[in-house]
Amino acid sequence: MNSVTVNNLKQYVDQEVELKGWLYNRRGSGKLLFLQFRDGTGVVQVVVSKKEVPENVFEDAKRIGIESSVIIRGKVSKDDRSTLGVEIHGSDLQIIQEVHDYPIQITEDVPNIDKLLDMRHLWVRSKRPHAILKVRSEVVQAIRDFYYERGFVLYDAPVFTPASCEGASTLFEVPYFDQKGYLTQSGQLYGETGAMAFNKVVVFGPTFRAEKSKTRRHLTEFWMVEPEIAFLELDGIMDLAEEQIQYVVGRALERCKNELAELERDTTILEQVSKPFPRVHYEEAQKVLVQLKDEFAKSDDPEKQKLAENILKNGLGDDLGAADETALGMHYKQCICIHHYPRAVKAFYMKADETGKYAMGVDVIAPEGVGEIVGGGQREDDLAVLEEQIKKHNVPPESVGWYVDLRKYGSIPHGGFGMGVERCVQWITGCTHVREAIPFPRTIYRLTP
Ligand code: 4AD
Ligand code: MG
Repeated sequence: MNSVTVNNLKQYVDQEVELKGWLYNRRGSGKLLFLQFRDGTGVVQVVVSKKEVPENVFEDAKRIGIESSVIIRGKVSKDDRSTLGVEIHGSDLQIIQEVHDYPIQITEDVPNIDKLLDMRHLWVRSKRPHAILKVRSEVVQAIRDFYYERGFVLYDAPVFTPASCEGASTLFEVPYFDQKGYLTQSGQLYGETGAMAFNKVVVFGPTFRAEKSKTRRHLTEFWMVEPEIAFLELDGIMDLAEEQIQYVVGRALERCKNELAELERDTTILEQVSKPFPRVHYEEAQKVLVQLKDEFAKSDDPEKQKLAENILKNGLGDDLGAADETALGMHYKQCICIHHYPRAVKAFYMKADETGKYAMGVDVIAPEGVGEIVGGGQREDDLAVLEEQIKKHNVPPESVGWYVDLRKYGSIPHGGFGMGVERCVQWITGCTHVREAIPFPRTIYRLTP
C-alpha cells in the first residue's frame, strides 16, 4: 500500500495527486471555492477555480453537501499558512455519493454533547473526537510497548468471571447458563496467577463497573492495563507506576503534537511529568486536605469556595472523594502517589501494613481535575489473613477458592496496579469528561450507538 494520503501530501509538492475521501467543509464565492477535504488521515484545503476546471466540475464542487464522498484530483502546492504546509489546486472532482442532509454542523462542539453523543457514529469524523481518539491510539500503543520492552508477558484475563474483585456494589451480573456470572471489574486476580507462572505479566482489556453515579470520571465499560509482578513490594510498585505514566505521557507529547494543538491543550504540566512523584502517606494527605478546605473557603475564587464545601465530604479517615483528589491536584500541581489508605476502605486482597490499620496500597492522582488514574498495591500474601478478609468482605469463598490456592502453593510478596486508559487519555487531552476518551462511551444512561 503506497497511496497518497493527506498526511503524506508534503512528499508530493508540485505533483498531480488523486485523493479519496469526504467533503469536510466549504467556503467560497462564485468564482473560487475552498473545499476542506478529509480522508481520515487529515484535512487539506482544495482550491477550485472556475477558470481552471470544467464547468460541471465547478458546479458539482459548489453543490454537493458536507460528507459527500468524492475523489479529488489536483496539484499539490506549498502553503506555509496551513498547518499541513500544503494545499491542492483542484483539477477534477468525481462524486461517489452526493449527500445533502448531514446532521452535524461543523461548528457544533461540546456544548451540544448529548446530541453529538447520540450521533457518535458520525461525530468521530469531526476534528475534536478525531484528535482525542488518535491520542488514545498512541496511548494504548505506548502502554503495549512499555511492557513489551520490559519483558512482561501479555496475559489476558477472562471477561466472564465467577466473582467480584472490587466489591459487589458495582458488579454487572449476567446469566451464564445455569449459573450466575459477572462481567469482570478487574483482571487483577487472574494477573496474580500469571505473576506466579511468568514472574511479570500484564493484563490489558475491557473492564466493567455498574457505576450508578453520573460523574465526569466514570464509565461503565473502560479499558484497564494491569501489570502484576512477583516479588515486587509497595515501593517498587510505585516506581513502576511512575515510570509507566512518564513513558506514556512522553510518547503522547512526542507523537501527538498536531492532535494536542488541535485540542488547544496547554501541555505545560504534562511536559513536567517526571518521576519520582511526591509520595504522600494517607494521613499526611488528610492533613493537607484540612488545610486546603480552610484556605479554599477563604478564597475569592468561587470555584475554590465550591470545592471547599466538598473537601473531606466522606469525613476524616474515610476514602477520598472527587473533590479531595481535585484539591490535592491543585495543591501539588503534578501527579502524586497517595499510599497507605485505611484498610477498611480498600478491597479484600490488599496487604495490611505492620500496624494492621493501613493497606499497602497506592493511588496515583493526576492533576488538572482528573483525579485517580492508577490504583494498586501489594497483595495480601498470608493465607490466614486473606481468608479472614474474604469473610469480612462477604466474598463467596467458593468463587475465589482458586485465588486462595495461590497462598497455599508458593506464596510470595507481590503486587501491581491498574491504570484506566480513558482517565489517562482524559488527562492528556484535557477533555473534561471521560466519555470523550473512548469511541463509544457506556454510562448509566447510554448504551447507543
Ligand atoms: O482503583 P481500581 O478500582 O483498581 C482495581 O481495579 C485494581 N484491581 C487494579 C489492580 O491493582 N490491578 O481501578 C483502577 C483504575 C482507576 O485508577 C481508574 O483509572 C480506572 O481504573 N477506573 C475507571 N475508569 C473509568 N470509569 C470507571 N468507572 C473506573 N473505575 C476505575
Ligand atoms: Mg481505586
